[in-house]
Amino acid sequence: MKTKYDVAVIGGGIIGCSIAYYLAKENIDVAVFEETQIASKSTRAAAGMLGAHSECDDLEIFYPFARSSQLDYFQLQDELKELSGVNIELRKGGIFQLAYSEHEKDELSATLALPTISWYDCTAVRNRENSVSEDIIGAAYIEDDVNVLPHSTCLAFSKSAQVFGASIFEFTPVLAIQKEDDTYTIKTNKGTFQAKTVVVANGVWSSSFFHQLGLHHTLSPVKGECISVSSEQPLLKHTLFHEHCYIVPRDNGRLVIGATMVKNDWHEQPTLGGLESLIAKAKTMLPTITDLKIESCWAGLRPQTFDKKPFIGYHPEDEDILFATGHFRNGILLAPATGQMIRDLIVKKDVRKDWIEAFKINRI
Ligand code: FAD
Ligand code: GLY
Repeated sequence: MKTKYDVAVIGGGIIGCSIAYYLAKENIDVAVFEETQIASKSTRAAAGMLGAHSECDDLEIFYPFARSSQLDYFQLQDELKELSGVNIELRKGGIFQLAYSEHEKDELSATLALPTISWYDCTAVRNRENSVSEDIIGAAYIEDDVNVLPHSTCLAFSKSAQVFGASIFEFTPVLAIQKEDDTYTIKTNKGTFQAKTVVVANGVWSSSFFHQLGLHHTLSPVKGECISVSSEQPLLKHTLFHEHCYIVPRDNGRLVIGATMVKNDWHEQPTLGGLESLIAKAKTMLPTITDLKIESCWAGLRPQTFDKKPFIGYHPEDEDILFATGHFRNGILLAPATGQMIRDLIVKKDVRKDWIEAFKINRI
C-alpha cells in the first residue's frame, strides 16, 4: 500500500473533499483520511442552501468569499458531473426571506441593498407561491441563493478528486500526527502514513488536533435537526426562510424543513422537542405543511468557532499544517472557495490578504 503523499487531509466531509479535489486537479498527490464514510456527518445533515445573501452577516469578508463560492457552483455542476457521473442537483428557484412586520422588513434592509435582491409584497409572494402564509407582509426575493444536494456534492468532489489521482481512505480515523524532520507522520488504525503537508478538516472534531498542535482554540457543536416530508403535488418552487429556519423544495415533491440550533449538544440524534419546534415554525411559513407525510428526520453538528467565521489558513508556527474547519452554518456554500484558498496557500499562490487575516486561526 502506498503510504507517502504530498498532502494528507484529515476528514472526508464537504470541506476535506473539496480541498482534495482542487489539490488533485493541480497534480498534487493528496490522500483523504475519513473516520467513517465520505459525507457522513454534518455534510450529510445539511439542507444544501447556497445562502450567500440569506446567511450574510458581514458584507466586507463573508459576502465576497461566499459569493465567489456560490458562483463557482454554477460551473462546478457540469464539471463534477462529467468527471464523477454524480449530479449535485443544483436547483434554481432561490429563496423568499419572509418578513412578518415592518420591523422585520427593516432588518432585511442590508440584504435588500445587495445587487439582484428585490422586495415582494405579500400578494406578489403569494402569486408565485400560493401556499405561503397570509400573515407575512412580504419577502426579500434572492434568486441566486439556490440549493444543491450536500451528500451528492461531497461524493462528486471526492470521486472527481480520485479521477485526478487522489486517494480516499474510508474507515481510517487519524489518531495522531507528529512532525519528524520535514515530514508529518500520520497514525491511523490502518498503519502509519507520511505527508509533507497536513490539512486538518475534520469538522467539529478538529479541536482534538488543535490541542496536539499546541493551540488553545476549540470548536463547539451547534446541533441542527431536520425533517423531510413529501407530497404528491409539489407544494413549493422556492425556499422559504425566516429566522434561521427554512423549507427547501427538492425533487419529487419532497420538502426539507430545517433546522434547530442547539448549542453544545454532541448527540447526533434529533429530539422530539426539537422536531416539535420545527413543525411549529414550518406551519407559520406554510400552514398546509401539516398535511404532508413524514419521510425521515435527522440531525448534524455544525462546527462553530468563537466568532462564527471559519478557520482557514496556516498553523501560526508551521506552514506545513493548515486548518480548514469551523464552517458553522455554511460549509456547503463555502466549500469551493475554501478548497481553492487551501490549494493556493499550499502552492504559494496569491490569496486575498483580507481573507488570510479574517480566517487565520490566531486572529485573537
Ligand atoms: P463534516 O461534514 O462534519 O466532516 C468532517 C468529517 O471528519 C466527518 O466525516 C468525520 O467522520 C471526519 N472525522 C472526524 N474525526 C476524524 C479523524 N480523527 N480522522 C479522520 N476523519 C475524522 N451549510 C450550508 O452551506 N448550507 C446549508 O443549507 C446547511 N444546512 C445545514 C443544516 C444542518 C441541519 C446542519 C447540521 C448543517 C448545515 N450546514 C449547511 C452546515 C454544513 O453542513 C457544515 O458547515 C459542513 O458540512 C461542514 O463540513 P465539514 O467537512 O467541515 O464537516
Ligand atoms: N445554513 C442552514 C443551517 O445551518 O441550518
